[in-house]
Amino acid sequence: MQPKHLELTQVGIDFPTPKGPFTALTDVNLKIAKGEFVSLIGHSGCGKSTVLNIVAGLHTATTGGVILDGAEVNSPGPERAVVFQNHSLLPWLSVYKNVELAVKHAMRGKSKQEMRDWVMHNLELVHMTHALDKLPSEISGGMKQRVGIARALSMQPKVLLMDEPFGALDALTRAHLQDALMEIHANLGNTVIMITHDVDEAVLLSDRIVMMNNGPAATIGEILNVELPRPRERLALADNPEYNHYRHEVLTFLYDKQKKIEPVSPHIKANKEKETSESKASNSSDAA
Ligand SMILES: Nc1ncnc2c1ncn2[C@@H]1O[C@H](COP(=O)(O)OP(=O)(O)O)[C@@H](O)[C@H]1O
Ligand SMILES: [Mg+2]
Repeated sequence: MQPKHLELTQVGIDFPTPKGPFTALTDVNLKIAKGEFVSLIGHSGCGKSTVLNIVAGLHTATTGGVILDGAEVNSPGPERAVVFQNHSLLPWLSVYKNVELAVKHAMRGKSKQEMRDWVMHNLELVHMTHALDKLPSEISGGMKQRVGIARALSMQPKVLLMDEPFGALDALTRAHLQDALMEIHANLGNTVIMITHDVDEAVLLSDRIVMMNNGPAATIGEILNVELPRPRERLALADNPEYNHYRHEVLTFLYDKQKKIEPVSPHIKANKEKETSESKASNSSDAA
């Protein structure tokens, strides 16, 4: 079989703590095809950012490892660009200069004109050319995330890693940015791994939704293939039964996991008992 573009094999990590090693992840196995859009979803603290940081090369796995196009990942690199929830723009540089800084690194040896065209091209992708000379403090949160995405894209990454990129934005701004991201993904075909807490966002954007169990020793619980045709249009999907089926699947998974850390009222518990006894065998390690 053809090796996949991005492979996580038996990835596990122990963090040193004063009380001894803390096993955050264990046996994380995931193969991602080129151009695929994968979301990671799971409860807070389950290890989503840790998975992303291992792919980014910011953390090193204790067991197993990550291979991108045949090469082992063991440090950060421009072929794996990261977008964080809180934009990490340099506050003293303008919108244009923040992107230019990344381009200067990624396009060493190119002419000034080529670099300028490339900065402008990437700012056009996120519809931000109207604010070239503004400082980060002079633009909205949504605009800052747009610039962060332009900066990441300007490095022409093979893989775009996004850690709750729209988590801090209001619903309308988030919807606009999701649409922009879908358009960019359709045009550029980057591989994307995005962490989200938002079930609708996961279903709308993803080819696959990777649902993680609660930690410690968290791992992948289930993977859902989202086979909705693209381009996807949020309004049309709102009352599409298939869309709602996917949504329901993710919510059910999250609800079942939540029950293990936060007991629910007895009658709901009784209704859910049957399903729990089925999943208990495989999840006995993550019960609180
Ligand atoms: N550097 C670290 N040292 C010790 N524990 C860590 C470190 N980074 C993360 N953790 C722990 O690993 C678990 C997963 O964290 P994280 O990946 O940030 O979760 P998520 O992104 O799903 O909210 C948490 O219990 C967290 O406290
Ligand atoms: Mg996180």
